[in-house]
Amino acid sequence: MSHTAFRRIGLTGGIGSGKSTLAQLLVARGVDLIDADALSRQLTAAHGAAMPDIEKTFGPAFIAADGSLARERMRALVFSQPEARMRLQALLHPRILSAVSEQETQLINQGKPLVVLDIPLLVESAHWRQKVDRVLVVDCSQDTQIRRVMQRSGMAAEAVQAIMATQASREKRLAAADWVVANDVDDIGQLEREAQAIVLHI
Ligand SMILES: Nc1ncnc2c1ncn2[C@@H]1O[C@H](COP(=O)(O)OP(=O)(O)OP(=O)(O)O)[C@@H](O)[C@H]1O
Ligand SMILES: [Mg+2]
Repeated sequence: MSHTAFRRIGLTGGIGSGKSTLAQLLVARGVDLIDADALSRQLTAAHGAAMPDIEKTFGPAFIAADGSLARERMRALVFSQPEARMRLQALLHPRILSAVSEQETQLINQGKPLVVLDIPLLVESAHWRQKVDRVLVVDCSQDTQIRRVMQRSGMAAEAVQAIMATQASREKRLAAADWVVANDVDDIGQLEREAQAIVLHI
């Protein structure tokens, strides 16, 4: 934990639970956000800092024509082969950590009191759990997760379930939570009220 008064609130939840949606509602209310998912995508965009290592480790078949990560192919690989998933994570994780630290330093230098960190796999990672002061979990049923991700990306239910199988269970996530935001109903107004309440309490 930090020696300054700066506080880190980890925002997490399973795939499709509504992390990014809630994060944007918090940003709209003046909260500073660090998006670990977006940082990960930047690392694997065209000319992203992780791309040379990805090509070395997985081969040119995983590099798209524009030099970015061939996401569909990589997704198929890592969600069928745990060993490949671990290699990818080992490659990305240290870079995500240092990018997060950099953004935190900027906020601290600006005198900001707190940050919300959108970290999809927070509960799964001992490292992240010790880096954040509080854990805010966005919670919904597995059926809702599957429906939302299918709608959002056109993925098959089985593909969503394969991803969910690599993530912590709903129970484990709830057990790690300091706060829980229920987000089972597709109702932005309700999530906005939750965001308002969070801003008043953090
Ligand atoms: N309260 C809500 N009302 C309406 N739509 C919602 C609500 N919450 C989430 N959604 C929709 O569900 C989908 C998934 O939400 P979102 O992208 O925020 O989830 P996420 O937890 O960030 O997912 P990922 O783990 O993939 O990053 C999005 O299309 C979003 O618009
Ligand atoms: Mg998201």
